[in-house]
Amino acid sequence: MVTVRVPATTANLGPGFDTFGCALSLYNTLTFSETDGDLRFSGCEAAYCNADNLSVVAYRRVMEALGLPMPGLDITMDTQIPICRGLGSSASLIAAGAAAANALHGSPYSPLELLGICNAIEGHPDNLAPALLGGLVASFVEDGRPFAARYDVHPGLHFTALIPDFELSTHAARRVLPKEVPYGDAVFNVSRAAVLLKALEQGDKELLRVSLDDRLHQPYRRSLIPGYEQVRALALDCGALAFCISGAGPTLLCLSMEDGFDAALARHLHELPQRWTQLPLPVDHTGVQVTLS
Ligand code: HSE
Repeated sequence: MVTVRVPATTANLGPGFDTFGCALSLYNTLTFSETDGDLRFSGCEAAYCNADNLSVVAYRRVMEALGLPMPGLDITMDTQIPICRGLGSSASLIAAGAAAANALHGSPYSPLELLGICNAIEGHPDNLAPALLGGLVASFVEDGRPFAARYDVHPGLHFTALIPDFELSTHAARRVLPKEVPYGDAVFNVSRAAVLLKALEQGDKELLRVSLDDRLHQPYRRSLIPGYEQVRALALDCGALAFCISGAGPTLLCLSMEDGFDAALARHLHELPQRWTQLPLPVDHTGVQVTLS
């Protein structure tokens, strides 16, 4: 039996579309046992208790890569990461299944190699890389081969997620993106992305304010998130340094360095038209954790 704990992740971080992601201290924990029977789930919504469950899909991919037959599985799920909210719940299930199969068969693959296998399921590595490696990660996959670089995050920097009571599927959020972008917008993002990484490392407030910006996805997605403008205005009024859509949304992410930010935001949250849950989420530096028993 193996227990796998996988962190939530916030992808894109403004200018790093499909590239940057950071692991956050909110977890899905899954336990897997191989059996001679079929698939059995506990702690999982009925709609997801089947072979299309992403943890099962990933488990199977690793077994195929190892040249081994797919066993029956008993899977127990304790899921804290909300579904379809832009906090990496899909990536967490994929990482869990892949890490479980790997661990139960002698751990032949490194976390980076697992990223290559997992990315073939998700199609972009920005949630998967921090889910597997922990911390702030920039990554890409070229010809099926994953490349990832980890960056430090200044310890004084706070991430606060504002999670709405409505869902937004990544599929719907990708459908609104254009096929091409103006050259100037590409340059805008390259410059902000490079500066942002240093700003996050050094906790440089001025650089964070200007570099956590984006022209590749947020301008197209804002209108899918009712209340976006009001939440942004409130967050900045309460002292957020910067603000962005978490992954494909609809969760919105505030970055702050002032102790009073969360308390100030909590005092005013009821003024917003929609219902938002405020969740301070420290960075997770560990990534996927596997315990064999
Ligand atoms: N980079 C992805 C997107 C993250 O923004 O569509 C969502 O999984």
